[in-house]
Amino acid sequence: MADIRPDTMERITDHELAKKFIDEQVEMVKEQVGEKKVLLALSGGVDSSVVAALLLKAIGSQLVCVHVNNGLMRKGEPEMVVKIFKEELHANLIYVDATDRFLDKLEGVADPETKRKIIGNEFIEVFAEEASKLEGIEFLAQGTIYPDITESGGVKAHHNVGGLPEDLQFELVEPVRLLYKDEVRAVGKELGLPDTMVYRQPFPGPGLGVRCTGAITRDRLEALREADAIVREEIGKMEKTPWQYFCVVPDFKSTGVKEGKRYMGWPVIIRAVDTVDAVTAEATELPWDLLKTMRDKIIANVPGVNRVLWDISDKPVSTIEWE
Ligand code: XMP
Repeated sequence: MADIRPDTMERITDHELAKKFIDEQVEMVKEQVGEKKVLLALSGGVDSSVVAALLLKAIGSQLVCVHVNNGLMRKGEPEMVVKIFKEELHANLIYVDATDRFLDKLEGVADPETKRKIIGNEFIEVFAEEASKLEGIEFLAQGTIYPDITESGGVKAHHNVGGLPEDLQFELVEPVRLLYKDEVRAVGKELGLPDTMVYRQPFPGPGLGVRCTGAITRDRLEALREADAIVREEIGKMEKTPWQYFCVVPDFKSTGVKEGKRYMGWPVIIRAVDTVDAVTAEATELPWDLLKTMRDKIIANVPGVNRVLWDISDKPVSTIEWE
C-alpha cells in the first residue's frame, strides 16, 4: 500500500467527507482482514481510539483491543477507555492493570531518558505477553497518522505504542495513516466518540512519569494526578483553552505552616503553553483569578502539597515538559 498521500485526496473538512472516508475504510478493512482477528493497543489517545471505533464498525468482535494501564495515566482515563469501548461500544477489550509492574521497575530511577526507556520497554513486554495468550491473531492495527510517516521516516517513534516487538509477526492495519490530526478528529466525531476523547490535548507517551520529576514515588504521583485533574478542569473552562496545560510535581519540598506548625510539602507547578508545532512555544497568559482558584483547590484537596507555582517560561529555552 502506498504511504504517500495522493494529491487528489480530498482534505476531510466536514461531516459528509468524514462519512465517505469511514464508508470506504470499512470496506477496505473488511477486504484486508476477511474473517481473521486484529489486535490493537488502545491507549486512549485520539489516534488509537479512532482506529478502534473504525475497526469496530468494520469487523466488530474480530477486533481485540488491549488497554495497558501503566499507572501513569491521568485521573479517570483508564476508566474512560473501559467505559466507552467496553460498556458503550461493546468492544472485545482486555484491560491490564500493570501499575505495580511499571512503578516497581521505575523505583529509584531518576534519569528522565532511563525512565522513558523503562516505560517504553515495559509496555512492549506487557503487550507482547497479552498477545501471546491470544489465538488466531493475524493482524495488528495501529493509529499511525500521516505526520508520523512524514516526520519520522515511517516509524512511529516518540510514542507509547511505538516499537512493537519484532518477533510479533503481524500484518499491519493502519486505516488513518494518510490523515492529518484534524482529519482524524473529524472522523472520530463522525464515529460518535465523545469530545473529551476527540479533542484530548497532547499527552506524552511516558505520561505522568515525566511530570513526577526524578525518582517517582507513589504518594507524589498521586498528588500529581489529583492536582492535574484540578488544573485540567479549571483551565478547561477557559473560552479558548491553551494548546497544552498540565502540572508538574518536582522531587523537592519547601516549608509550609499549618496550625502554627512548620512542615515540609511539595510544590505544584502549573504549565500552560500555546504553540503550532511544539518546536517553539509560548507560556499562556492565564487570568489571575483562574490561578487563584487553582491554588486554593490544590491546597485544599491535594495531600502533601503546600505551594503552587506558575511556570511562565517560553520554549526555547525551556522545553514544554520538565523532563
Ligand atoms: P518538549 O518537552 O520536548 O515537548 O518541549 C514537546 C511536545 O512533545 C511531548 N513529549 C512527548 N511525547 N513521548 C511523547 O509521546 C515523550 O517522551 C515526550 N516528551 C515530550 C510534550 O508533551 C509536548 O507536547
